[in-house]
Amino acid sequence: MKIRNISLINYRNYNHLNIELGKDVNVFQGENAQGKTNILESIYYCAFGRSHRTSKVKDLIMWDKKNAQIRVYIEKDRLDKTIDMNLLSDGRKSISVNKVKLTKIGDLLGVLNVVMFSPEDLKIVKESPGIRRRFLDMEISQLDKQYYNALVNYNKVLAERNALLKSRRIDKNILDIYDIKLSEQASYIARQRINYIGMLNSYGKAIHQEITTQKEEIRYVYKSSFSLEGNLKDNLKNELTRKREIDIDRGTTSAGIHRDDLLIFINDVDAKDFGSQGQQRTAVLTMKFSSLEIIKKVKGEYPILLLDDVLSELDLSRKKFILKSIENIQTVITCTGVENIEEYLTGSYRLFNVQNGSIVDGGD
Ligand SMILES: Nc1ncnc2c1ncn2[C@@H]1O[C@H](COP(=O)(O)OP(=O)(O)OP(=O)(O)O)[C@@H](O)[C@H]1O
Ligand SMILES: [Mg+2]
Repeated sequence: MKIRNISLINYRNYNHLNIELGKDVNVFQGENAQGKTNILESIYYCAFGRSHRTSKVKDLIMWDKKNAQIRVYIEKDRLDKTIDMNLLSDGRKSISVNKVKLTKIGDLLGVLNVVMFSPEDLKIVKESPGIRRRFLDMEISQLDKQYYNALVNYNKVLAERNALLKSRRIDKNILDIYDIKLSEQASYIARQRINYIGMLNSYGKAIHQEITTQKEEIRYVYKSSFSLEGNLKDNLKNELTRKREIDIDRGTTSAGIHRDDLLIFINDVDAKDFGSQGQQRTAVLTMKFSSLEIIKKVKGEYPILLLDDVLSELDLSRKKFILKSIENIQTVITCTGVENIEEYLTGSYRLFNVQNGSIVDGGD
């Protein structure tokens, strides 16, 4: 899968932009606040139907304009695909693939696969479980529509269950129904998470050893709020029954996949609480490069890799690891120029100079 062309109209600080991407590495270089991340964001948007940094459609539309458009041409298995995003200032958006309008985001997932890596991703290791669940959910959703649909259904039932618990007008029969529905969706979601974490472990082991020159072992564990032995559906249902009085008391649901976590161990120590800054950064690097390999394995081809400003944060050996690993992967890198990226890039690359919402030269 390769992106051949991106065109933006009234998107963030781009009035009109039309660029051809190279098949290998594409470097967007420019000073701060010129529009480098905006380009990565537009690609990300076409993959997931949402931005990695805002949930407001309006933020993406150039100030004082009424709508914005993103169009991405993809070459996939020698078949071309076009993704069109139309964003309106009242918050609506329409998405088309090959000019056919989609009715749900679920149908967009997997059309364009991307892995994004930015300094913000350090949060995956450092911060609360919600961020790690989001990592799992995004990665698995782009491989498996059924997972995304299960998640949507689960969250809907969970919101209804919590509303009922808070209402203080408890109807035990309705709670029974919610518990069954939650358990059904949760068993699929938890299975797929466990499966994904298995793949993270198998790819992550070698990648992490390579990055740390055999000094560190990485290991991932799924920590669940219900037993993962045997039948997951029954386990969660029993757990919800067992905790029902507590849930009624607290007005919230205390077991289920919305409470689970992905634990990351480096040399058998929890990286969240005990990892050094460098170890945490390396753990994220390993996770992102493992995600690339997992997509390759499941989909048969590499996704597009988006690297936002990460090179300046990494030491020489990690920079070299990245630039060596992206040889067969179409990559879009943003940088400010101080990274001297040309020194490390061995293969062919295209350089675009970004200035105030325009590409002033490059693309050759
Ligand atoms: N809706 C919008 N309309 C017009 N301009 C916008 C809009 N949203 C953001 N901008 C502008 O886009 C610029 C930021 O773009 P972006 O985040 O891509 O910068 P960058 O080149 O990645 O910078 P840095 O190196 O600091 O990360 C800012 O100048 C901001 O004011
Ligand atoms: Mg940026």
